[in-house]
Amino acid sequence: MSFVLRLQCVCCGQQYWTRVPYTCPVCGTTGILDVQYDYAAVRRVLSRKILRRRAEHSHWRYRELLPIATRPGLPGLQVGWTPICDARRLANQVGLRSLLLKDEGRNPTGSLKDRASSIATVRALRERSPIVACASTGNAASSLAGMAASLGLRSVIFVPQRAPEPKVTQLLIFGATVFRVLGGYDHAFRLSQQACERWGWYDRNCAINPYLMEGKKTVGFEIAEQLGWQAPDWIALSVGDGCTIAGAWKAFRELKILGLIDRTPRMLGVQAAGAAPVTEAFRSGTALQPIVPETIADSIAVGVPRNWQKALMAIRESRGTMINVTDDEILDAMRYTGKLAGVFAEPAAAAAVAGLKRAVGEGIVFKRSSAVAIITGSGLKDIHAAQKAVSEPFEVSPDGGGLEEILRRQGLVAAHSRAAAQK
Ligand SMILES: Cc1ncc(COP(=O)(O)O)c(C=O)c1O
Ligand SMILES: [Zn+2]
Repeated sequence: MSFVLRLQCVCCGQQYWTRVPYTCPVCGTTGILDVQYDYAAVRRVLSRKILRRRAEHSHWRYRELLPIATRPGLPGLQVGWTPICDARRLANQVGLRSLLLKDEGRNPTGSLKDRASSIATVRALRERSPIVACASTGNAASSLAGMAASLGLRSVIFVPQRAPEPKVTQLLIFGATVFRVLGGYDHAFRLSQQACERWGWYDRNCAINPYLMEGKKTVGFEIAEQLGWQAPDWIALSVGDGCTIAGAWKAFRELKILGLIDRTPRMLGVQAAGAAPVTEAFRSGTALQPIVPETIADSIAVGVPRNWQKALMAIRESRGTMINVTDDEILDAMRYTGKLAGVFAEPAAAAAVAGLKRAVGEGIVFKRSSAVAIITGSGLKDIHAAQKAVSEPFEVSPDGGGLEEILRRQGLVAAHSRAAAQK
């Protein structure tokens, strides 16, 4: 049974009770729709107690709040219910008393995007669309290709010229037909739109498809449930297009409506300084001005975000804020998140931690606040970026010559070790 009530345009407010093509027919492509549910009906069937009894440890445990009516035909991959880890040493580095990491790199294709792509592929299957398509800098694409593979759908992916090689390779392994567009993300996006329209493929671009945000919001449900229905003071999350932070916020808004939580967190949206049109729109209070992005964090290098209004709504409603971090801060955060928490974050994911550190430094987030940083994707996806954050390994000869000297310099053996004493 579906609890979806209607779709509402975020631009003009028009409500739609019957099926419409992807965006608002009145506003055209700028009229992104929001999926709204019959919360009174959901409240009757969903409670903390009912959720506690559910054995399903994936994002489908929140099915009443998803736009998927029935259970058969879900992907065989386990999406969601990713771990939330207490990162005490990292908290210290960031300047907080406590910091938790929600490790989305543990999703089947290594990023939070699996939450959205699983919804897209199931809807495509139910709409009898055997081919799914999207444009992406990497994670949305690989998750779509992986979920499509799991369900026996074909996928067509348009990536920008600078999409990292490991992410493109992941697509090819999942059997996608991949087009490397000789331009930026926006060129890839336009081409994928035209192709979807021309050949009638199911369009998994969150710039127009309202159902993707519904999958992304499940990260918020999980954070609340994993913390015993206590929202943290802050949730830090990096922002490219803006759909993910809007989704995470929607989760807390819905949980509050349903009486499952008492208070909501504040959202800290983090952008790379070289790709910060959403922060700029937030600060200036004017419409978003497109930019040419320049950052190491490819997943958030978006010059023309399409969900910026939804993102800013999330920031304002939650009494949160936007903050920018430099590429150096991102590389630093990759290093110390790995070293102090054992979590390997890709640059866009590490940006959330870097943003929190900066926000603490600027007095926006207080030291005693509780915070969750969402690690949106695994660092293994972009080894080249990670290599910029670290030094080379030490080289030693097979007989171990020079080994002890290096260990001593590293503080791994005492200056007067036993071996040295025996000499
Ligand atoms: C790893 C990672 N972090 C953050 C984001 C930002 O999400 P959004 O573009 O929805 O703002 C993305 C989006 O591609 C991503 O892949
Ligand atoms: Zn509209």
